[in-house]
Amino acid sequence: MNKNTELMEKIVSLAKRRGFIWQGSEVYGGARGTWDYGPLGVSLKRKIMNEWWQFFVEDRDDMYGVDAAILMNPKVWQASGHVATFADPLVEDLKTGERFRADHLLKDAGVEAEGLTNEALTAKIKELGLKSPKGNELSEVRSFNMMFQTNVGAVVDENSVAYLRPETAQGIFTNYKNVVDSFYPNLPFGLAQIGKAFRNEISPRDFIFRSREFEQMEIEYFVHPDTWQENFDKLLQDTHTFLKDKMGLKPEMIHELDVPEQDRAHYSRKTIDIEFDYPIGKEELMGIAYRTDFDLGNIQRVSGKSMGYTVKGTNEKLVPHVIEPSFGVERMVMAVLTASYREQEVDGKTRTYLALPEHLAPVKIIVAPLLKNKPQLVEKAREVYAELRAKYGNVSFDDSGKVGKVYAKADEIGVPKVVVIDFDTIENDGLVSVRNRDDASQIRVKPSTI
Ligand code: GLY
Repeated sequence: MNKNTELMEKIVSLAKRRGFIWQGSEVYGGARGTWDYGPLGVSLKRKIMNEWWQFFVEDRDDMYGVDAAILMNPKVWQASGHVATFADPLVEDLKTGERFRADHLLKDAGVEAEGLTNEALTAKIKELGLKSPKGNELSEVRSFNMMFQTNVGAVVDENSVAYLRPETAQGIFTNYKNVVDSFYPNLPFGLAQIGKAFRNEISPRDFIFRSREFEQMEIEYFVHPDTWQENFDKLLQDTHTFLKDKMGLKPEMIHELDVPEQDRAHYSRKTIDIEFDYPIGKEELMGIAYRTDFDLGNIQRVSGKSMGYTVKGTNEKLVPHVIEPSFGVERMVMAVLTASYREQEVDGKTRTYLALPEHLAPVKIIVAPLLKNKPQLVEKAREVYAELRAKYGNVSFDDSGKVGKVYAKADEIGVPKVVVIDFDTIENDGLVSVRNRDDASQIRVKPSTI
């Protein structure tokens, strides 16, 4: 799929205008690569996270939840390989000193750059005569570690170095033994975590798709080494079910990519990326990696503590292998917004609406009186509002008396129904008008049947 820059701009503009997502620290000119969620955005994001937790953790008896600290012992990142290898290929503008992702510069020039070594990237840039975005010569390609580094406590030296976690996964691996000792679960079993992660992206871009602070929903699923493939396949299937049934994403917008060896993360022996047709093109939504015993083996080696597991029944002793489904929350938010964005021509005008699945809509119903200066209408509308709010929770009230505007706002923020109280309601039949977001049709019903 090609880029649809116009659609992307429309989604970004709607997200800003309607209070879903704003540039971080916007009032001070922004902080690149950070995004703030407004009232509707945080509601959508929480609903997505809650659906994920319900589907992958609460509804299963083989999953355990954890919530680990973001600041971890630096040995974690030495043992995991992140200090040595978690790096991006960068070039420097030789005049201004600005740094850019070499693979992004090549991609923007229409050249596929995945999996190339720094030397090969340098050669390609030279061959094409690429310059920096400011038109200056570029340096050779060098690796740049993406972890944010800080110092813990009062003394700033090599012993106080700490990192903001670049993945939530390590907070799971470091609690594997605690869960085994406390719960002694049967293999296979999984540990799940939702939380923030941080990466010093040199070129954050494409709205919330690539940012410096983001949220992950990750599972480390511990299996007998002989059964990794079948467990990998099952989790892949569960992921497809989740994306279709819970996130409302159409299967035709979802694609599997068997990631070639040279493009896989350093810990992975097999990775399937699930890609989605975003307006920015076909890009990664989530990935499932077979991490073998790479992480538990490293923890065992560096900490000196056994990560062994004794299989119940056979007493076989082994270090479990791991399948990791890893989801980016922001990428899911962007996929859900993309999948639900609609435009419809009505009487020469464009009606824009978000066809969000009802269970993800930040507001379920808006209740409005037809006019604002008729106390009988407003009073009845408040009564219906109180009834629906008690029943559904996320219902809001609008007494602006401008029903056309209420419909337009409701459409843009994806409210499935708008309930209007008019004179017929109070003088005639007690019925209210219910307008449906997706086809703009209206029916009259008793409030108690909504
Ligand atoms: N834990 C996998 C990742 O952060 O990409």
